[in-house]
Amino acid sequence: MKMRAAVLEEFGKPLVVQDLDIADPKAGEVLVRIKACGVCHTDLYTASGADPSGYAPCVLGHEGAGVVERVGEGVTSVASGDHVITLFSPECGECIHCKSGKTNICLAIREQQGRGYLPDGTPRLSRGGEPIRHFMGTSTFAEFTVMPEVALAKVDPSASFESICMLACGATTGIAAALWKAEVEKGSAVAVFGAGMVGLGAVLGARLRGAERIICVDTSAPRLELAKQAGATDVVSAGDDAVQQVLDMTGGYGADYTFEATGLVDVMGQAVEAARMGWGLCTILGVAGKGEKLEIIPRFLITGRTVQGGSFGGAKGRTHVPQLVDMYVRGELELDPFVSHRLKLDDVNEGFDLMHAQDGIRSVITFD
Ligand SMILES: NC(=O)c1ccc[n+]([C@@H]2O[C@H](COP(=O)([O-])OP(=O)(O)OC[C@H]3O[C@@H](n4cnc5c(N)ncnc54)[C@H](O)[C@@H]3O)[C@@H](O)[C@H]2O)c1
Ligand SMILES: [Zn+2]
Ligand SMILES: [Zn+2]
Repeated sequence: MKMRAAVLEEFGKPLVVQDLDIADPKAGEVLVRIKACGVCHTDLYTASGADPSGYAPCVLGHEGAGVVERVGEGVTSVASGDHVITLFSPECGECIHCKSGKTNICLAIREQQGRGYLPDGTPRLSRGGEPIRHFMGTSTFAEFTVMPEVALAKVDPSASFESICMLACGATTGIAAALWKAEVEKGSAVAVFGAGMVGLGAVLGARLRGAERIICVDTSAPRLELAKQAGATDVVSAGDDAVQQVLDMTGGYGADYTFEATGLVDVMGQAVEAARMGWGLCTILGVAGKGEKLEIIPRFLITGRTVQGGSFGGAKGRTHVPQLVDMYVRGELELDPFVSHRLKLDDVNEGFDLMHAQDGIRSVITFD
């Protein structure tokens, strides 16, 4: 079948929207018609060539939401017409990691996914017979995608695609980190460093958990305003004194929970230092540049702080993402304010420009 897709032809160059062939889903796979897709930093990072594991040509995009068009042999958990969110982080439920209950890092399709292939080691994308690789196992900058069943979360069909596509990556990363990875306690003090989609998600999660104080730190005044709307009780203009300001706001002790959502190693250090002596828990969510190191003075650990991190905020995609969509439908999770721009697939590069300019939180590509 033919479809339109945005192809990364060459690093550092704009994506090229064009016709591609997409093959039928094989056993255990699903053909999804994409309805909305957020533009996330990881797409930009790979397109720029900065990601050492990147490859081209491939179809980028990983914040997708859509409808199941057709299922391959043996697929039982989703059926034609189901609404789904694409998961770059699958949940097979059967591998040693899934069975442990201790991590969301599923091993089922990991190796081939990292190389740009479906689990059988081949792509479903091509152009005039030339194979084109997938990206993050999702490739959602396209009208259709073929994905393994284990990488799709079936969600409430009443939710609008453009609001919930962010739950495929950025929003869930922050929300799940606060709800389930850090398990923020009611009445606690929280500090969130970074008020992009991920940090704002952490603010939303902390509020849902009943945190009493939610301090948000960022360099951008408009973003701090959004953080207030999301539930931040205090905002701090980022800088060298950010840690001191958090300490001052928490009786000199520091926050019970801190979250880092900038990808800057210096800010990660601040998030560690702003966590409370005795039991402060710092959760690192940002992706640092290649080779960069996080420096921690050991005294901060000896005196009772814990540092953790989580891909996708530790969320188990097929378990947690449908729960978040339900919360959205019940009106408990305000995601709509984060959709700043709506674009067509042909304008995907504009989504990257807007991100460079830090214009808005999320640009969402919608498909008719
Ligand atoms: N763990 C995961 O699975 C996962 C998933 C998605 C994104 N990420 C990563 O999370 C990070 C945040 O993603 P995002 O989409 O929210 O990015 P973003 O760029 O929209 O947000 C980052 C925010 O940090 C702010 N900032 C800059 N300098 C700061 C400072 N010194 N102190 C405090 N804030 C500062 C920026 O103003 C911006 O608002 C990125 O590194 C991204 O790659 C991780
Ligand atoms: Zn992402
Ligand atoms: Zn698994």
